[in-house]
Amino acid sequence: MIGGFGSQLRWAAEVDPPVLEGLEHLLVAGMGGSGISADFAAALSNRPLAVHKTYGLPAWAAGTRPQVIALSYSGNTEETLSVVEAAIKAGLTPAVVTSGGTLAEWAGRGGWPSIGVPPGLQPRAALGYLLGSLLRLLGPGVVGVTSEHLHAAAQTADTVVGPGGVGWGLAGDLAQGLEGRIVGVYAGTGLAGPVAQRWKTQINENAKWPAWYSLLPELDHNEIVSWTSLATLTRRRVGIVALRDRGEPPGVAARFAHTAEVTGGDVNWVGEVWSQGDSPLERMVSLTAMGDLVSLELAIRAGVDPVPVAAIEDLKRRLAEAAGPESRTAQSKQEIKGVM
Ligand code: F6R
Repeated sequence: MIGGFGSQLRWAAEVDPPVLEGLEHLLVAGMGGSGISADFAAALSNRPLAVHKTYGLPAWAAGTRPQVIALSYSGNTEETLSVVEAAIKAGLTPAVVTSGGTLAEWAGRGGWPSIGVPPGLQPRAALGYLLGSLLRLLGPGVVGVTSEHLHAAAQTADTVVGPGGVGWGLAGDLAQGLEGRIVGVYAGTGLAGPVAQRWKTQINENAKWPAWYSLLPELDHNEIVSWTSLATLTRRRVGIVALRDRGEPPGVAARFAHTAEVTGGDVNWVGEVWSQGDSPLERMVSLTAMGDLVSLELAIRAGVDPVPVAAIEDLKRRLAEAAGPESRTAQSKQEIKGVM
């Protein structure tokens, strides 16, 4: 599945996207493996793009009336459905990227602009489909990404994670250094920031392994102080990986060097990964592909199956059971019918 990243981006490059008008204000809603595409798009966007990862709409949406885009691979994520429901109530027409579920049903009935992606994967393994589709929906005017850029990014992904890809060796080395350690992913804000978030969540979900991410320069104003009190523990049990991009501001580059020096005695800096490729999208894709490989290598070292996410499914089941058959989603289906 990880090796399919490039072919998914290629698929998206060939999609004929619906045309969205009036994209001055954007709100992209989605959770987890779907929502991360919104973070990537926000880093590429030349205008404010709000990434929304909760229920309903923020208060400002009533005045600004943004174009809402809902991303949900399954099409059944309650937070994302609740955003769509709120958008409809506010008289907004959402655009949708999904593989099916309630969201596809609503979009079909409402005739909303949508892109249907191929079903059957774990949402986080469909990043190429979801991200590629979102970038096509937003268009080159907003994110500066054309079909050609997506093809080039697909090639970059193949170079890293395709058969014989250059990423496998480095991922193995990093995983060896990270074995037995909670992983901290450090990156500069900008292109590498959302990728650090993706590394964290891929390590969590594929390797079932604790990880967090922090961004420079902000972490220099707080987290940098945190390494002394538990130093005997953190020296042995925490590993930092730095994600680097040649476009990072000089201030961030300087901070990487000094931060490693200041904290290096108390926490282990295991390695550094530099982005590859020309365009911003290619650079994000190359770092992302490396993170996917590292999460897989850690899963192998932990002896776990990287695919299932039992805790997430258990939690969703518990919430649905607690809500009962007349759940919010079932009710909102009726409300949505009434609106359309
Ligand atoms: C599972 C995964 C999760 C889901 C999330 C939202 O692979 O990555 O984080 O993405 O639970 O579900 P969807 O993406 O179907 O809206």
